[in-house]
Amino acid sequence: MYLTGVIGYPLKNTLSPLIHNQAFKALGLEGSYYPLVVPEDDFGLIIHILKKLRFCGFNLTNPYKIEILKYLEGISPLAQDIGAVNVVKIRNHQMYGFNTDVLGFIQSIKAHRLNLTRKKILIIGAGGVARAVGYAVAHARPAALFIANRTEEKAYALAQRYGGKTIPFEAVSEIIKEIDLVINATSVDIQSWLISHLKKGSIFYDTNYCFPSIPTKQVKTINGLEMLIYQAAHSFSIWTGKRPPLKVMKEAIKGGLND
Ligand code: ATR
Repeated sequence: MYLTGVIGYPLKNTLSPLIHNQAFKALGLEGSYYPLVVPEDDFGLIIHILKKLRFCGFNLTNPYKIEILKYLEGISPLAQDIGAVNVVKIRNHQMYGFNTDVLGFIQSIKAHRLNLTRKKILIIGAGGVARAVGYAVAHARPAALFIANRTEEKAYALAQRYGGKTIPFEAVSEIIKEIDLVINATSVDIQSWLISHLKKGSIFYDTNYCFPSIPTKQVKTINGLEMLIYQAAHSFSIWTGKRPPLKVMKEAIKGGLND
């Protein structure tokens, strides 16, 4: 029996249970994926309970992708380099951390045929998702990498890590006039604030999938749905050791969005 879930707070409108539960069903596996809404004070307790209940693992979303690090017995080299974990596998009461956000981001970039090399890129946000996205962007040799975050010290730490330059949060609407690709790695909807400032032909990539896209001819907008699916597919194979039924997972999302 594969018991899994996602821990987050607040955890609104998550499509992950739908994707994973359909995937278990499609492969004839006995498994369940639960949304686990856990306030910060209860995080340690829920981890303990999930181990006791013999969960095979779980996903993490905001604000826990960095917080989880201190609870782990082991971590993959990639997640260690990124400094954030969005998947945990539990084996023999030991927890091992992985990062599949970065794989989801890279695969979604490929699916949209985007080339990051020699582009001017701005990442807004400096939490768990921003660490994964920053890792992928930095390895793609952009022309320039800028990072802005509400809490500036965190932007500075990320910029140090990936060789980027920090932009004050208040200056974002000014700098984005020069940017080819803007990535929203915060957990809030910033599209309506920024969209009219973006330069013609640029791209706005939102790592979130739940915010409505504002239609515009000037700018290409991408939301986090592909990133979600690909990270989920990798999570699924970490827990089950099986090839993920990608088509079923994509169909599950379509159904979820139409509900
Ligand atoms: P995730 O796993 O989604 O990255 P996280 O690690 O909690 O979640 O990070 C959330 C990000 O969204 C942070 O960059 C956070 O900014 P702070 O570092 O200043 O907290 C950003 N964020 C959250 N709420 C925000 C808001 N109302 N305005 C601007 N940025 C916000």
